[in-house]
Amino acid sequence: MLRSTLLAASRSGAIRGLVERTPLTRPVVKRFISGDDVDAAIATTGEVLADGRLVTLDHLGEDTRDAAQATGTVEAYLELLGRLQKAGYADRAEVSVKLSAVGQFLPVDGEKIALENARRICSAAGVVGTTVTLDMEDHTTTDSTLGILRELRVDFPWVGAVLQAYLKRTEQDCRDLAHAGSRVRLCKGAYQEPASVAFQDKAEVDLSYVRCLKVLMAGKGYPMVASHDPRLIAIAADLASERSKDSYEFQMLYGIRPEEQRRLAADGNRMRVYLPYGDEWYGYFMRRLAERPANVAFFLRAMLTK
Ligand code: FDA
Repeated sequence: MLRSTLLAASRSGAIRGLVERTPLTRPVVKRFISGDDVDAAIATTGEVLADGRLVTLDHLGEDTRDAAQATGTVEAYLELLGRLQKAGYADRAEVSVKLSAVGQFLPVDGEKIALENARRICSAAGVVGTTVTLDMEDHTTTDSTLGILRELRVDFPWVGAVLQAYLKRTEQDCRDLAHAGSRVRLCKGAYQEPASVAFQDKAEVDLSYVRCLKVLMAGKGYPMVASHDPRLIAIAADLASERSKDSYEFQMLYGIRPEEQRRLAADGNRMRVYLPYGDEWYGYFMRRLAERPANVAFFLRAMLTK
């Protein structure tokens, strides 16, 4: 109930204004987001890399209805990639991109514009020697995102995708993408989805995650295990026991279970932190609140004690 209320709020302009205007929100937001600009992102990347973790950076933004804003997002990624190279981080830090931030929802030629914009980001990533992973948004975008992935992979075979275990289709998508050279980030899924397409029960989502993991770990691709769930991490480690440590990786979000992130890295695992930055933090932040009711209490407590 709380989850669906928060997820509905994550797409409400009125509530967005209210949350964003409250200065007391800021300290709580900081737990999940590295900062407003590229300087903050580079500084946090340096801190995370220093203890042996890897990074994927997300320039925050989504659901863009304005072509100029989509172009602005591309330029922000180009600047970020240049800064990663300059700092000497491009071998350990990649970028994650939401296609809805680079034009997928534009009313005219949205998919075409998103493809061209993503292509520009991939070209720049290739030049600096890093990779791009396409985030996955709600289920209405899955076919479009996987279609754009296929197009991009013709020129940039290292482009990765995210698949969401809560979707009933995902086990088959994992089979389709478990081929050599394919990078797949498997997560549970963070949006509000109808029962017609998605498992609603947490236990069912977890079982689906394990089925998908089995497919990816048995395949020839590069699985990216994106979860903070201790049971799923243990199962992934078990399923990967026949694989070399550099043929898969664990991934977690910035600000969530940082000690476990460091433990996995110290144990010789590839461990990547998803690091968002920028001032368009609202949707991302609300999804993090929705994932864990305790975060809402933490948020309210911080507001009340100021
Ligand atoms: P689950 O929600 O069951 O959490 C397990 C445990 O982790 C909790 O008990 C708690 O300890 C901790 N935890 C989880 N979330 C927390 C939070 N917000 N605050 C504090 N503690 C928390 N989704 C999507 O739809 N599209 C995408 O592209 C991505 N991309 C992505 C990249 C990466 C690297 C990660 C790790 C996750 C995503 N996600 C995503 C989000 C994902 O779908 C999911 O919503 C979250 O990862 C939470 O699910 P868990 O697997 O962690 O399990």
